[in-house]
Amino acid sequence: MYGNENFTLITGASMGIGKAFAFECASRGMNLLLIALQEPRLEETKEDICSKYPVEVVTYGADLTEPSAVTALFQYCLQQKIKVNILINNVGMGAGGRFENISPDFYLQMLNLNNQVMTMMTYYFLPMLKESSSAYILNMSSMEATLPLPYKSVYTGTKNFIYAFSLALREELARSNVKVSVVCPGPVLTNPDGLKRINSHGKRAKLIMLMPEEVAKIGIKNLLQGKGVIVPGKVSWTIVKLMKFCPTSLKMKMLERVFRVYRDH
Ligand SMILES: NC(=O)c1ccc[n+]([C@@H]2O[C@H](COP(=O)([O-])OP(=O)(O)OC[C@H]3O[C@@H](n4cnc5c(N)ncnc54)[C@H](OP(=O)(O)O)[C@@H]3O)[C@@H](O)[C@H]2O)c1
Repeated sequence: MYGNENFTLITGASMGIGKAFAFECASRGMNLLLIALQEPRLEETKEDICSKYPVEVVTYGADLTEPSAVTALFQYCLQQKIKVNILINNVGMGAGGRFENISPDFYLQMLNLNNQVMTMMTYYFLPMLKESSSAYILNMSSMEATLPLPYKSVYTGTKNFIYAFSLALREELARSNVKVSVVCPGPVLTNPDGLKRINSHGKRAKLIMLMPEEVAKIGIKNLLQGKGVIVPGKVSWTIVKLMKFCPTSLKMKMLERVFRVYRDH
């Protein structure tokens, strides 16, 4: 039982950006509830954090795409008296290639993890967040939300859903104690696959590439400042701003050229 201390809940927290969020939040003295698929990797993350920061860390291993996983997690929080005041919906998956070359099962899994899980996490935890004097939701989108990428069409679509959902909910909750932000990073170096992806774009991608720790630092700082849309990195931010002035047909042709490298993945 954890009494009435505040916790920051982070999904997908055992690796990559989620793990970096966990370290960033711990460095700010926040207690953590970390969720991922595999318990051992989560436990290692917990040990690492606890050896550096004097915060409470609770781990919870679950496949969030299972039908009752989100409600089971919510029940667990109620039973353990874990009061969540910051919800970071970070977990997500993606793949590149021609639309028809990826299996329907993979798409269903991606839609579930990226969109259904985020929506249900927000739905179940919102009443708890509203009980706090000030609370935050940070949703993980991508730069691709505003720049639809050919050869990543479904992933791009899921990130656009997260982007639009977050902006709409932010306004709905504007007069409440809950602030909603959406973070839209460009490429982030999180795993060897990501490195291959970034390398396939040559120098261009390296210009906008960030490390997970940079995304986490900028993400949490801006979240706590109540910023709506967070685009980490000056180059990415400039690209997103400039592309708003580019006609859609021209923009899409340019993006198809740049991302043609994913076509036969
Ligand atoms: N990397 C990028 O370039 C980039 C750019 C923009 C946005 N993003 C977004 O940022 C988020 C994190 O990306 P990342 O690259 O850091 O991810 P990652 O390194 O692949 O880490 C994925 C995390 O999610 C967990 N996870 C995967 N499937 C799960 C499931 N079904 N149930 C519960 N947990 C699950 C994994 O747990 P296990 O370790 O136990 O498997 C792991 O902790 C995603 O939403 C992604 O779309 C990434």
